Amino acid sequence: MVIDPQMVCTVIVGGFFGDEGKGKIVAHIAHRDHPAIISRGGVGPNAGHTVKIGEKSYGIRMVPSGFVYADALLCIGSGVLVDPRVFLHELDLLNVRGRTFVDLRCGIIDEAHIQRDKGSEHLSKKIGSTGTGCGPANSDRVLRVGRQAKDVPELAEFTMDVAEEINETLDDGDSVILEGTQGFGISLYFGTYPFVTSKDTSASQIAADNGVGPTRIDEVIVVFKAYPTRVGEGPFSTEMTPEEAHELGIEEFGTVTHRPRRIGEWDGKMARYSAMVNGATQAAITGIDRVDPACAGVTDYRKLTAPAKEFVRKAEEDIGIPVTLISTGPELSQIIDLRKER
Ligand code: IMP
Ligand code: MG
Repeated sequence: MVIDPQMVCTVIVGGFFGDEGKGKIVAHIAHRDHPAIISRGGVGPNAGHTVKIGEKSYGIRMVPSGFVYADALLCIGSGVLVDPRVFLHELDLLNVRGRTFVDLRCGIIDEAHIQRDKGSEHLSKKIGSTGTGCGPANSDRVLRVGRQAKDVPELAEFTMDVAEEINETLDDGDSVILEGTQGFGISLYFGTYPFVTSKDTSASQIAADNGVGPTRIDEVIVVFKAYPTRVGEGPFSTEMTPEEAHELGIEEFGTVTHRPRRIGEWDGKMARYSAMVNGATQAAITGIDRVDPACAGVTDYRKLTAPAKEFVRKAEEDIGIPVTLISTGPELSQIIDLRKER
């Protein structure tokens, strides 16, 4: 067996409350590392990733956001909940039929789960759930009354043993990206309980969701946004007022629910804790162009302005691990990559 020296298994997760721009980081790394597989962990279709196709924007909720890298097999790990209608719709919308598969054991979301989620005062009002059925479906899964992907005829041609596929791909010396969803602050285990999602969201969980053991993970990249956001209810210690956010020109809406996102200042303490529990080996910072608009589109670290460099220096000190990727805008090319050449 010939081992490619570049083979690497990378987990990418969100360090704050979700929507940190993980999709952009996944896409960038995919174009550089050429992974054979990009596989999703995380909760399910409560996650949203906005993509532009022509003039229209779409909220992608099931297919891994790494789909923009055309040469990878796209998978959804067994830990993830699948809503077959959303999945089948996205296959055609994104034209990824033939290279997108779900694990045979994925939990299934049906209409009744969605009704229970939306109809529950506790979930929809108090917690501010996305209403996509994830909480009730995970609850049924734990009670062992839920369905699995292998029981759904419409999914038959798209099912496989994702865990086996990933581990064999790693054996062959190819790279794999394991894509997390949500963010550390809404982890069921480590977040602001009860204002959390229905599962852990940390790097270990993302590996477990895909059936990849901890010894096989080479890199954990935690993604932080310069101005963190939160959708739904729950504590947010560095939250600013809508007026302050407006003043900074920051306005965001949830991909799945279209609710306005709450905006906050950088939280160094949370970033450090999150990096610790995630076992981060590298950090990525997105939205540096909001710290200083003059940085928009910059691809060379030396060309960052002094306030932006100072922000990165302080963030690195807070997090305690190197910031290796700095996103300077929404386009794929708008990124500074400081990772050492392998
Ligand atoms: P649920 O996961 O739909 O039950 O929602 C529980 C909480 O997690 C709510 O506050 C949601 O807004 C939040 N949440 C769930 N998924 C995401 C995500 O992908 N990004 C940001 N917030 C999320
Ligand atoms: Mg999102």
